Amino acid sequence: MEAVVGLLLVLFGVSHGVEIHCDGRQDGAHCYGSLGGTADIQLTGSTSEITRYQLTKNSLKILLVRNNELISNIIEHRSLFIPNNGTFRINNLSRNDGGNYTLENFDSDGRRSGMQILQLFIQGDFFSQLSECLSQEEMRVSCSSEGGDSPQYSWTLDGRTLTDAELLSGNNEGNIISLKQHVSGHLVCSFGNNVSNAAKEERISTCGE
Ligand SMILES: *[C@@H]1O[C@H](CO)[C@@H](O)[C@H](O)[C@H]1NC(C)=O
Ligand SMILES: *[C@@H]1O[C@H](CO)[C@@H](O)[C@H](O)[C@H]1NC(C)=O
Ligand SMILES: *[C@@H]1O[C@H](CO)[C@@H](O)[C@H](O)[C@H]1NC(C)=O
Ligand SMILES: *[C@@H]1O[C@H](CO)[C@@H](O)[C@H](O)[C@H]1NC(C)=O
Repeated sequence: MEAVVGLLLVLFGVSHGVEIHCDGRQDGAHCYGSLGGTADIQLTGSTSEITRYQLTKNSLKILLVRNNELISNIIEHRSLFIPNNGTFRINNLSRNDGGNYTLENFDSDGRRSGMQILQLFIQGDFFSQLSECLSQEEMRVSCSSEGGDSPQYSWTLDGRTLTDAELLSGNNEGNIISLKQHVSGHLVCSFGNNVSNAAKEERISTCGE
């Protein structure tokens, strides 16, 4: 007897080179980076009145900026400070980069005018997506990220939101959806929260082919 249920598994493993954007100006921000990936941490806005700020981790001063000029950066070999928009880009993230970063702002009199703590989580398998034909009528796609607090997922197909005509079950905000048989195209699952986000895409084709 021929198997009625075709099984197609496409597993996207560790996605190196994932780039995340993280807003370090929000106190208590949680950001999720991936091993080998890049994190863009926004430290100030472009019209900032902050004259001096520094980023420390475990009392180690990583970055010091004064009047929008880089004074010191102890991980210079794999990072970049972008003065235009106050972004600190860390490349080739390793597990050691995970942890709590303290961003301190100082006014022109040298008084501390603000302090934010940012938690960076480094994940091996930051993002994986799996599609599976459960039958000729149903394709299940799941998207997952390791850890993280209440991540929000969203899906698009060829750049637009999935419609009820395409969804068999699940909803656009869940991490598992079932698609109807005829659905094909460029499926993107995005994961994130207010301060960091990433996306994974996959070309899906009709089950049963
Ligand atoms: C800051 O500038 C860099 C380089 O132009 C750009 O890649 C990055 O997306 C910018 N970040 C923000 C938050 O605008
Ligand atoms: C990235 O970092 C790892 C160690 O964490 C190192 O072995 C590797 O050579 C680095 N890759 C690049 C492109 O710098
Ligand atoms: C970072 O700070 C949070 C909140 O204060 C704390 O729960 C966590 O253990 C800290 N993480 C590290 C690696 O120190
Ligand atoms: C997003 O930000 C709002 C307001 O700052 C906050 O109430 C909410 O919990 C945040 N959501 C996430 C997922 O971080």
